[in-house]
Amino acid sequence: QTGHFTYDPGFTSTASCESKITYIDGEEGVLLYRGYPIEQLAEKGNFLESCYLLLNGELPTAAEFKEFDKAITNHTMVHEQMQFFLRGFRRDAHPMAIMCGMVGALSAFYHDSTDINDPVQRMIASRRLIAKIPTLAAMAYKYSVGQPVVYPKNSLGYAENFLHMCFSVPAEEYKVDPILARAMDRIFILHADHEQNASTSTVRLAGSSGANPFACIAAGIACLWGPAHGGANEAALEMLREIGTVDRIPEYIAKAKDKNDPFRLMGFGHRVYKNYDPRARVMQKTCHEVLQVLGIKDDPLLDVAIELERIALSDSYFIEKKLYPNIDFYSGITLKAMGFPTTMFTVLFALARTVGWVAQWNEMIEDPDQRIGRPRQLYTGAPRRDYVSFDKRK
Ligand code: SDX
Repeated sequence: QTGHFTYDPGFTSTASCESKITYIDGEEGVLLYRGYPIEQLAEKGNFLESCYLLLNGELPTAAEFKEFDKAITNHTMVHEQMQFFLRGFRRDAHPMAIMCGMVGALSAFYHDSTDINDPVQRMIASRRLIAKIPTLAAMAYKYSVGQPVVYPKNSLGYAENFLHMCFSVPAEEYKVDPILARAMDRIFILHADHEQNASTSTVRLAGSSGANPFACIAAGIACLWGPAHGGANEAALEMLREIGTVDRIPEYIAKAKDKNDPFRLMGFGHRVYKNYDPRARVMQKTCHEVLQVLGIKDDPLLDVAIELERIALSDSYFIEKKLYPNIDFYSGITLKAMGFPTTMFTVLFALARTVGWVAQWNEMIEDPDQRIGRPRQLYTGAPRRDYVSFDKRK
């Protein structure tokens, strides 16, 4: 008996919502964007096509894709004033701190002109966010490495433009390898949406109050940063670095199984997948392709990752608890090989997930029955009691 309530351990506040965007079967390891398997979209499509699909519900015709691609490409620049905002950060600021601030700051430029009840203005805001997020991500990276910001080039594709903005310097144009651009594009597809994960639920909850989409996406970025969520790719690579060599794996497997040890295998386990995360398979394949095109014959971290996966998947603890690698297990090795520092890994996740957040935000706003979010609470605190003056307190 606590207070006025009889504590019901069976009570669970399952805040749930209906959506037509993404389907996950955690037991079977299935992920569909608007009904299309993630494996097929990653293999045969491109990221902007998946953006169109997630936003509109259907794959675009050639004409629709051309118009969408042009609309996104023509909005890749950000207001020059954003440079002053960027320069306000410490040079050693984590790029995710910069992204939280910069994306929220976009509200200052577009908040007044975005009537979220007007579908046309919602689509304009959606396209602005998809177009500008790579530019802001590249600005955050350039600032953290002390290099000048590189502007987007409309002649380049989405992923190609991002790599150009990250790795070109005024002294030397970065020739984007088409295989790396394709790998980057595929990594964006894998991260684009994932149903009602923590950061998407954050965006929906923020948006349910009528907040502008730029502020809502900034809230999603803040939530994604956590190591249990989008920050796991950075944490997974740090874990592999800490393990260092294959012979130290058993020590870390034992730590992961020790209930008294807070250590978790980063990049392993999932709230929904109780089978192999389908994205992890595609990510592992992409990792091998990237290492090959970069001529990296053997990456000790990849050796540790493959052996760690092999041992874990044959260990009864992980089998019983249905713990498998998730998308974050191989992404870090891939992104490191592509030249990104670990601090940029979650920024890339946020870049790609922006389209999912925006699609889910639109779906919520379009719902005529949508009301402000208000999760239920089960009160387990003190019962009603009267004020006690200082002299009577023990
Ligand atoms: C993402 O929701 C999404 O869709 C997220 C995401 C997306 O695209 O948006 O997929 C992206 O966030 C992927 C997950 C990235 N996080 C990590 O890799 C961090 C390491 N993973 C764990 O922190 C954990 O698996 C979670 C947070 C992901 C899930 O935690 P849960 O809900 O506790 O997992 P569970 O219920 O399946 O756990 C079952 C048991 C528990 O032990 P018991 O309480 O039964 O004794 O397995 C244990 C857990 O403690 N466990 C692990 C483990 N993950 C779960 N033990 C060791 N290592 C792990 N990684």
